[in-house]
Amino acid sequence: MKKRYVLEVTAAALILAAAGFWYLGREERLPQEKQSLRIGVALYRGDDPFINNIRSKLEEKAKEYEKATGIKIVLEVEDSKDNQNTQNSQVDRFLSLGYDAICVNMVDRSVASYVINKAMDADIPVVFFNREPVEEDMNRWERLYYVGEDAKESAVLQGNILVEAYKEDEGSLDLNGDGKVSYVLLEGESSHQDSLIRTEWSVQTLKDGGVPLERLTGGIANWDRSQASALMEQWEEQFGDSIEVVICNNDEMALGAADALERAGNTRAVKIVGIDGTPQGIEGLKAGKIYGTVQCDSEEYAEVIFETAVAEALGQNVQEKIEFQNGKYYQCRQVALTADTLP
Ligand code: BGC
Repeated sequence: MKKRYVLEVTAAALILAAAGFWYLGREERLPQEKQSLRIGVALYRGDDPFINNIRSKLEEKAKEYEKATGIKIVLEVEDSKDNQNTQNSQVDRFLSLGYDAICVNMVDRSVASYVINKAMDADIPVVFFNREPVEEDMNRWERLYYVGEDAKESAVLQGNILVEAYKEDEGSLDLNGDGKVSYVLLEGESSHQDSLIRTEWSVQTLKDGGVPLERLTGGIANWDRSQASALMEQWEEQFGDSIEVVICNNDEMALGAADALERAGNTRAVKIVGIDGTPQGIEGLKAGKIYGTVQCDSEEYAEVIFETAVAEALGQNVQEKIEFQNGKYYQCRQVALTADTLP
């Protein structure tokens, strides 16, 4: 009897001890205990208005999160100043300091393998955004994500702004009434995944929409307002009043084109369209400098980047919180805007 009692007590003690160890071990692994998170962000260029807008939204998200949860967020943002070596060193530093997650806006999206190798070695997740690494790189690890926009969707929305204007009043595009809509095209960086697709699908959408197009010329202005302005100035001298439409891969270049027309004293109702819906772009729309844009939901953009980094850092199941395509890709919402449809 006594022996059985001893056995029972021993068994119970063993079970309790095992449960205790399991619980303690579990507690140790519970990342919710973290009172602060450190997230490193590297921007390809801090002076790019589209990127700068995402950056401010990220900072807002971090503050809101701190308030709501009491978990301190250290969000360290670095400007890579368009230099991949600088960015690699910034990433190295984040990783060596043991940051909980990093968010990278690649300078050169074709060399993301450097960042990926280092992050994998350090076991620190990476949320890439806006400049998409090649698929082969993205598939190397399950803790890699990409947040961006569907470039074809942006372009189709942009093209349709002009198709609708044409359908409503052909003369609003075909200013000289020669039966053709003559356009010039300003493109973003040639190495950026968005440039080529936006160019192709804007033009295709206009053709599909029955607009009789004539391409006067086009050129690369690298997303930049002053480069676009300089190109537009040349084209204005070369083609003068033949230019009826200016299709731009982003709002900055659209604003640059408007600057050049203004400088040249061109008051014809040339229709300039952009993409992004940055605060500067919307201002331009309101001021009548640009006719239309495609606004990307920057709130959602920043939220997805931030929430993914935090969920990964806390060891939570990211897929349960955010629906990534193929577990990796998130394309933000976009909407076409003209002065008439501004909210
Ligand atoms: C945006 C541009 C921006 C570029 C930077 C594009 O998706 O439309 O405005 O300059 O990304 O990578």
